[in-house]
Amino acid sequence: MNVKEVRQEAKKRFNGICRVCRECNGVVCAGEFPGIGGVGTGASFINNHKALAALRVKMRVVHAASDPETSTTLFGQKLSMPILGAVVAGAKMNFRGIVTEEELATAFIAGARQAGTLAMTGDGPDPSLYPDGLRVIQQNGGQGIPITKPRDQASIVANFRQAEAAGCVALGTDLDAAGILPMRAAGQPVGPKTAAQLKELVQSTPLPLILKGIMCVEDALAAAEAGAAAIVVSNHGGRVLDHTPGTAEVLPQIAQAVRRDLVVLVDGGVRSGVDVLKMLALGAHAVLVGRPLATGAIGAGADGVRLILEQMRNELKVAMIYTGCAGVGEIGEDALWR
Ligand SMILES: Cc1cc2nc3c(=O)[nH]c(=O)nc-3n(C[C@H](O)[C@H](O)[C@H](O)COP(=O)(O)O)c2cc1C
Repeated sequence: MNVKEVRQEAKKRFNGICRVCRECNGVVCAGEFPGIGGVGTGASFINNHKALAALRVKMRVVHAASDPETSTTLFGQKLSMPILGAVVAGAKMNFRGIVTEEELATAFIAGARQAGTLAMTGDGPDPSLYPDGLRVIQQNGGQGIPITKPRDQASIVANFRQAEAAGCVALGTDLDAAGILPMRAAGQPVGPKTAAQLKELVQSTPLPLILKGIMCVEDALAAAEAGAAAIVVSNHGGRVLDHTPGTAEVLPQIAQAVRRDLVVLVDGGVRSGVDVLKMLALGAHAVLVGRPLATGAIGAGADGVRLILEQMRNELKVAMIYTGCAGVGEIGEDALWR
């Protein structure tokens, strides 16, 4: 199968849950949550796309970077590309059960692994969701990152213990799920964390801790102060709060404040290798990709995820040739017209 066939198959299987639009920008699916869209007006998802689309790449063809290297190292792992699979979980709720949670997680984790990189698994009100993802990571030699909801401290630490036992390379919590109603409705409270609670979480595990859902410098500084290994600049793909800026709008100031102290990851609207280059030029060390990989997973399982990731990697390599960047670490703000 090629990417075009994967997308066609995904469109059939999604049967309207996701239209697999030519441009995945949050417009057609606005408000479709649960589902694939952003919450409310869809503005946060749409802003992610708009912020990236507004950036202009500075083309350069007089240099020696003819065979750029896309590999990078994160959490002690050598990765073939600075692109990871984001958490796309809740198969029953979001995808009306057209795949099981385990099938969805397998597509992400195994597909990313085959492409030489990593992906994440999730957590949710259904008590089997977190262990389903963890089992898949374990089956893949620990090559994956489980993200637990910002539950009470004891429940998070219990999930961390399971992740350590499964041999995961890193773990995390999606702080941006602090206000999501399905968790509260299911009697499993989630909420924001204080700086002291973040420190307690960092100290509770020997694994690198990733804090997902950072959208301002204040929170990024708190994450760094707590000793987190990484943050993800993310508005949860526009799925938690309406009218936030696009992540590419807030990334430069956040990266400037903390990128020397921790790994800065970012997600939201990354659809191509050129988008990856833009995010790295704004200061991220690597990006996460959500919906495009969901298309891959539904269209062709792990193969679909691998194909989409490989396509993005190839596009990134071409973009690096055209901006004179021989390696991922060379992609800086001068790759963009500012
Ligand atoms: C269907 C769906 C389910 C998601 N589930 C989770 C989740 O369980 N935990 C989490 O941290 N993020 C979740 N996300 C957010 C993604 O991890 C990621 O932040 C976002 O999708 C990135 O934007 P993109 O899809 O535009 O690439 C989900 C996103 C989608 C589309």
